[in-house]
Amino acid sequence: MGFSGSSFILLNCFLLSFALLSSAKKISVTYDGRALKINGERKIIISGAIHYPRSSPGMWPMLMKKAKNGGLNAIETYVFWNAHEPQRGQYDFTGNNDLVQFIKTVQKQRLYAILRIGPYVCAEWNYGGFPVWLHNIPGIKFRTNNQVYKDEMAKFTTLIVNKMRENKLFASQGGPIIVAQIENEFGNVEGSYGQEGKEYVKWCAELAQSYNLSEPWIMCQQGDAPQPIINTCNGFYCDQFKPNNKNSPKMWTESWAGWFKGWGQRDPYRTAEDLAFAVARFFQYGGSLHNYYMYHGGTNFGRSAGGPYITTSYDYNAPLDEYGNMNQPKWGHLKQLHELVKSMEKVLTYGDVKHIEYGHLTTATSYTYKGKSSCFFGNAENSNREITFRKRNYTVPGWSVTVLPDCKTEVYNTAKVNTQTTIREMVPSLVGKYKKPLKWQWRNEKIEHITHEGDISGVALTANSLLDQKIVTNDTSDYLWYLTGFHLNGNDPLFGKRVKLRVKTRGHILHAFFNNKHIGTQFGPYGKYSFTLEKKVRNLRHGFNQIALLSATVGLPNYGAYYENVEVGIHGPVELIADGKTIRDLSTNEWVYKVGLDGEKYEFFDPDHKFRKPWLSNNLPLNQNFTWYKTSFQTPKGREGVVVDLMGMGKGQAWVNGKSIGRYWPSYLATENGCSSSCDYRGAYYGSKCATNCGKPTQRWYHIPRSYMNDGKENTLILFEEFGGMPLNIEIKTTRVTKVCAKVELGSKLELTCHDRTVKRIIFVGFGNPKGNCDNFHKGSCDSSSAFSVIEKECLWKRKCSIEATKDKLGLTGCKNPKDNWLAVQVSC
Ligand SMILES: *[C@@H]1O[C@H](CO)[C@@H](O)[C@H](O)[C@H]1NC(C)=O
Ligand SMILES: *[C@@H]1O[C@H](CO)[C@@H](O)[C@H](O)[C@H]1NC(C)=O
Ligand SMILES: *[C@@H]1O[C@H](CO)[C@@H](O)[C@H](O)[C@H]1NC(C)=O
Ligand SMILES: *[C@@H]1O[C@H](CO)[C@@H](O)[C@H](O)[C@H]1NC(C)=O
Repeated sequence: MGFSGSSFILLNCFLLSFALLSSAKKISVTYDGRALKINGERKIIISGAIHYPRSSPGMWPMLMKKAKNGGLNAIETYVFWNAHEPQRGQYDFTGNNDLVQFIKTVQKQRLYAILRIGPYVCAEWNYGGFPVWLHNIPGIKFRTNNQVYKDEMAKFTTLIVNKMRENKLFASQGGPIIVAQIENEFGNVEGSYGQEGKEYVKWCAELAQSYNLSEPWIMCQQGDAPQPIINTCNGFYCDQFKPNNKNSPKMWTESWAGWFKGWGQRDPYRTAEDLAFAVARFFQYGGSLHNYYMYHGGTNFGRSAGGPYITTSYDYNAPLDEYGNMNQPKWGHLKQLHELVKSMEKVLTYGDVKHIEYGHLTTATSYTYKGKSSCFFGNAENSNREITFRKRNYTVPGWSVTVLPDCKTEVYNTAKVNTQTTIREMVPSLVGKYKKPLKWQWRNEKIEHITHEGDISGVALTANSLLDQKIVTNDTSDYLWYLTGFHLNGNDPLFGKRVKLRVKTRGHILHAFFNNKHIGTQFGPYGKYSFTLEKKVRNLRHGFNQIALLSATVGLPNYGAYYENVEVGIHGPVELIADGKTIRDLSTNEWVYKVGLDGEKYEFFDPDHKFRKPWLSNNLPLNQNFTWYKTSFQTPKGREGVVVDLMGMGKGQAWVNGKSIGRYWPSYLATENGCSSSCDYRGAYYGSKCATNCGKPTQRWYHIPRSYMNDGKENTLILFEEFGGMPLNIEIKTTRVTKVCAKVELGSKLELTCHDRTVKRIIFVGFGNPKGNCDNFHKGSCDSSSAFSVIEKECLWKRKCSIEATKDKLGLTGCKNPKDNWLAVQVSC
């Protein structure tokens, strides 16, 4: 026993070390006009973006596995400068910011990596990835031929390249990185920078080249990218893109799988049919590297959301949802396409190409190599098209691409989805007798004010002017107090008038206090952040009066020429007005600036912190602004994604066990209009097409990664509520698969899975001409009477089942028209 056991271990060790050795094989990456070449062979790369700080190291292996299962062979990420260098010279490469660990996780799955260093990244990420302290360095100008900026950019880029090198992560060292990017979409704004912008592009290319990497460098959306840098395309569709050099392969760095969401905006939704159409067309027209933006969007934890007003969820309607669940049918429908395209790799990258035009944006494309042919039929109009190709007739549905690996048999059409739709619901993690309401404790946030002497603790600076918020805070907090005071004589003309305080701000949120009394709160809606607050003042005093203005940001801009200079916070004037006239302009008073909340300074969000004044348990305040709340909860059992349902709360930030899970704002409802119950996948997609969630909270559920929670122990949830909310309805929930449905044509295979759960009930079976869509099927005019019991036998209490949709198997349908034969099934899990 002992002997055979140890030889088994020996054998295992041998296999393991063999695996490690072979995974560290050094490879060469080159390219020509057709494709990237790995060890001299042209390759199709199907990649997906997963941004490491938008998930946790605990999620990475699961995400990569699902990406690989989904038919990807590469993972792409940006590098987030402000996450790594929050203060100048103080670096953080730990936890969610552990870039090296992330790339090693890619490697463990035997996937390639694409590293987009930037360091400008856009990405709906706070300030586009630049640290705000960078802006506050004297003499700096971002993204142009400015020496101060270039020195800083080179310093960070070099740090990242060296880090990758030291860890042997480049392909030539045996690592997974096959491509690196410098800058990002600069071509979109280059016109605004004149000659200096052009010089900057050249300098970026020289910087990249100076590292002497053997892997190619790319610049996306950069039509004037200097050789040998490859320019690449970003967009919803990139089939018509041509690189600026015939020796550069056609690469799509951002294939937008869905879209991002802002506070007050609807949920974006891009159909599987349309995304597959865009991807298939790219390969039809000679593309060879394709990267989904995003494959997993994830979560903007902490204060990392940009915009401004980008939500905490960065789900993006990607193939993997925010929690890492497969977003079906998108994930599965694309998987089939990926596998098919990969099976055609040789013919697509080496074959002779021929296009036959049928008019009406209908094209048949054949690739022929060594006597083997593969074909695509593309139809970019909305109506179906009949074509004759090599003496056979085909119907190409509107807005679709048909793939025929042998140029005869249709194996895949982007508009025909046979992958199941998975419906998830947020269900309470504890039910029945286990369900206990959360017990809350609370404490107040301090309302700042200035005394006669003008001294308060923790003052950042004083000035006789109104300052740009990010210059004062370096963005170390969302919050900045603007404080001032003034004297009034008994005979001041203000007395006896109806006085108002008027404040002009560039956003995003303003709370105004006069002589310690709250007089108003206001915010700029999505997309229009400047506003004027004008509120009555009823408590003017003889002698000293004081004004306290708390300005809050909701993420800094991340896009556009010179976006870094967009001001935020109170710019003035700040005035006392009466009868519509300015009576007193306070803009050039002495202003005292205090950065951040008291609770941030004393770390109220830290559950282990011992305060002089304890948290209170009685008289829980409801609907009260500037309140901190604290509770504890059990880690939900199982593997489902965990969320906190913050319905009823206003706006603020949430922490679990001291880690910020992001800003919350469920009281901000999505636009009432612009959603429709039906969605036509045909026609070009744009971010608001087919949107959902009108009139509901923009974001109600907030992701808590399982690795943020304690196994089997209690967890602490702490909230800072800025507007006032009802914590009594807050619940911990999980993302459960509750229903699954699918529809396939006669002769195809219908596959169903409840993922980690089992089929509990067969809700609907229609074999014939069932009507409606998933979650809303009903019987048609013809139907098989025996299909239900067959499906029940195959599927009930199983995790997975698969059924051939044939009359042999499911019984006769009785449909007169042979085209009227398909199978639709819905089950609950
Ligand atoms: C902000 O950053 C700049 C540049 O590092 C620094 O000079 C300045 O003191 C910082 N301001 C504050 C308030 O920390
Ligand atoms: C790159 O190669 C050049 C020329 O051989 C050399 O001068 C330079 O030091 C190298 N740079 C790095 C970062 O290795
Ligand atoms: C294809 O369609 C054409 C015209 O619609 C028709 O004349 C022809 O017979 C069809 N061929 C086959 C093989 O069905
Ligand atoms: C909170 O808001 C209410 C109005 O909704 C206001 O009456 C109250 O003074 C505010 N409290 C604080 C502390 O700002």
